[in-house]
Amino acid sequence: MDELRIRGGHRLQGTVSVSGAKNAALPIMAATLAIPGRTVLHNFPRLRDTNSMIQLLTQFGVAVEFLDDHTIALEPGEAATCRADYELVRTMRASICVLGPLLASQGEACVSLPGGCNIGHRPIDLHLKGLSALGAEIVIDQGYIHASARELRGAEIYLGGLQGSTVTGTCNVMSAAVLAQGRTIIQAAACEPEVVDLGNFLNACGARISGLGTSTLTIDGVRELHAAEYTIIPDRIEAATWMMAAGITSGDLTIEGVREDHLAAVIETLRTAGLKIELQNETARVQRAGDLQPLDVVALPFPGFPTDLQAQLTAMMCLASGTSVVTDRIFPDRFLHAAELLRMGAKIRRESSGVIIEGVNELSGACVMASDLRASAALVLAGLAARGETVISRIYHLDRGYEDLAGKLSRLDAEVERQKGGGPNPPHFASSPTPSASKAPPKG
Ligand code: EPZ
Repeated sequence: MDELRIRGGHRLQGTVSVSGAKNAALPIMAATLAIPGRTVLHNFPRLRDTNSMIQLLTQFGVAVEFLDDHTIALEPGEAATCRADYELVRTMRASICVLGPLLASQGEACVSLPGGCNIGHRPIDLHLKGLSALGAEIVIDQGYIHASARELRGAEIYLGGLQGSTVTGTCNVMSAAVLAQGRTIIQAAACEPEVVDLGNFLNACGARISGLGTSTLTIDGVRELHAAEYTIIPDRIEAATWMMAAGITSGDLTIEGVREDHLAAVIETLRTAGLKIELQNETARVQRAGDLQPLDVVALPFPGFPTDLQAQLTAMMCLASGTSVVTDRIFPDRFLHAAELLRMGAKIRRESSGVIIEGVNELSGACVMASDLRASAALVLAGLAARGETVISRIYHLDRGYEDLAGKLSRLDAEVERQKGGGPNPPHFASSPTPSASKAPPKG
């Protein structure tokens, strides 16, 4: 498994461009299963997760073609299967996003239950509740979801759960409802920008969705969708990760691809922490003005502070001049990174659904292990600021959501090296596809 070696202590400086949003690209790709014709997606992020989705869609008979490094064409064909195997689903939960489009287009789907996850309990009961409300018959058998529907009919659906709305649950139900008979109203829908991006894409394909960005979606089903050309939004989580990289290294970064409307809570939080953030035309210049100030932050559904950034914030707060509290209301157990940060000299204590972080003067490099995508980003941030060398193992987690991170860091004056580690990368995590204009989908 590959490793990332970082020699800390360098101030990051320069300009970095944010890739397309992983969590918008995945449901949009899945939705093309129900969209005849050749859809073209621009600003497509080259990630392990999007590569896994390409593999899955190819199994379902979708023809995938790279038109250039970040533009992809997808055209559904005869579905070779309607089954998403455990092997792939267990490595990428977002495979569940094919459920709604398969039901809407094929009238059936067989998708493995996702199984366990390092960031905590992640049921899919709301996905199944919403699809059942549209008329799907759902049977769980031997670890698989067997869903079928002669036809889908619009319904009024309350999609809220104990921790609020569901992002991919809203995507699944919306992707099915656009082709249902009649009107669907989804109450307690997720408002995340990635859900809005999927909705805007579907509308570009002829769907009739209103209320995007609010918690109530109204969807009038249409008989058929048509292919479209669409540009995926920039990844707000990557953008904010770069902001915190500037903060933790006292650097000076210009970040291209920053949507202020997607990051209001984050920008407010980071300014309170002492970062100087200047925004102009989807570009942010981020510097650190003085000491990092301690914070009390709670991760909430959008427009609150995102759970996908709490690990990175925890890393930065390890060097704040005081005691911070970071709580996650969405994934209360999403703190595996804390134990690894302790190995780097951080002072962190676990409390019910959060951590208490006592700021220290410096972190020390160490050998640490990535456990999930955003925890590994937290370890990278800590390594950039730590004294000495940090070696992060299992960085296939990083590749899931950050395109060419080592390359981008190197171009920002970080001293970082990606090394082939011992043993193979896990299955389905073939090396990130090398950019090519090849007609065939990437290997691996
Ligand atoms: C999406 O996951 C993102 N993934 C996650 O990003 C992100 O952390 C999460 O939303 C929250 O913003 C993708 O979009 C591919 P949820 P998702 O359904 O949809 C509970 C990353 O790092 N819930 O919004 O799986 C659930 O347990 C990844 O890029 C139910 O109870 O999350 C959680 O507490 C990690 N029943 C809360 O809702 C359900 O049926 C929010 O989960 C579904 C969810």
